[in-house]
Amino acid sequence: MTAPDVLCEDLVRIYATDGIEVQALQGLNLRIERGELVALVGASGSGKSTLLTILSGLDRPTGGTAQVAGTDLLAMSRRERVHYQRRTVGFVWQQTTRNLLPYLTAGQSVEVPQLLAGRSSGGARGRAARTAEMLDLLDVTHLRDRRPAEMSGGEQQRVAIAVALANGPQVLLADEPTGELDDETSAEVLEAIRRVGRELGVTVLVVTHDASVAEHVSRTVRIRDGRTSTETLRRTEVDEHGQARHVAQELAVLDRAGRLQLPAEFVDTLGLRDRVRLALEEDHVGVWPHRPDEEDAR
Ligand SMILES: Nc1ncnc2c1ncn2[C@@H]1O[C@H](COP(=O)(O)OP(=O)(O)O)[C@@H](O)[C@H]1O
Ligand SMILES: [Mg+2]
Repeated sequence: MTAPDVLCEDLVRIYATDGIEVQALQGLNLRIERGELVALVGASGSGKSTLLTILSGLDRPTGGTAQVAGTDLLAMSRRERVHYQRRTVGFVWQQTTRNLLPYLTAGQSVEVPQLLAGRSSGGARGRAARTAEMLDLLDVTHLRDRRPAEMSGGEQQRVAIAVALANGPQVLLADEPTGELDDETSAEVLEAIRRVGRELGVTVLVVTHDASVAEHVSRTVRIRDGRTSTETLRRTEVDEHGQARHVAQELAVLDRAGRLQLPAEFVDTLGLRDRVRLALEEDHVGVWPHRPDEEDAR
């Protein structure tokens, strides 16, 4: 088995501002295999951007383990960090203005990261060829000489993906890349991400609110309060009539210490609070509300 491309174990990030501590990540576990496309969902404030900022090498975790494409993100030197950001990962942010410089054309935007990374194979010609290849892959060749102001939001994001892939990263990270787009454009951009991931064999982690993302990915990871709470796995099954159908299964994530998060609706329905009674059955575990008075009466 090859090593996973993303491996987070008990990842913690605490922000301390003005004496107030915010635990943005509270022991998060995540494993993504090489070439997988995983969607990350979760309410606002659940820690999605914090995770992506750490994985992109822009921020350091407070504790735990984070490895991406074999690089230990907690042990990187300054130099390794620069190399990591330029070559190992590519990122696309929600704000189109954060992805593209206003005065560069699409062609120049794809060229610049190659120059910064000192890509020398084939020199200027090699870079131009790579630029043309990336623009073509994202269907934005016609935008080569245009600046962001002359592109639609969806076009800007597709150019941003081409830029992120310029140096052939092993992992592509996208934080709500379609957050500012309408539904139809959003679907196009997500489809472009899925397609390039598959064609280039790039591992992709994309944060999205888009419910239709379900059709694009094999695995959706939900984070709640800075921890991965559930994962939805999807596969295609062929039924007895030879018809393909999609099967989705939502599973709770069990961490290495045996902790799991109960869905809020289970907790509310049974009025679970503070302590619960557990029982090991033959092939499952039972969880009961703890009602001391009832048990005393027995
Ligand atoms: N730079 C920061 N300083 C202090 N608190 C922060 C900072 N960035 C994020 N947070 C807090 O961390 C939590 C997680 O934020 P974030 O990762 O942005 O969530 P999401 O992307 O899921 O909306 C929130 O409570 C947020 O207010
Ligand atoms: Mg966010």
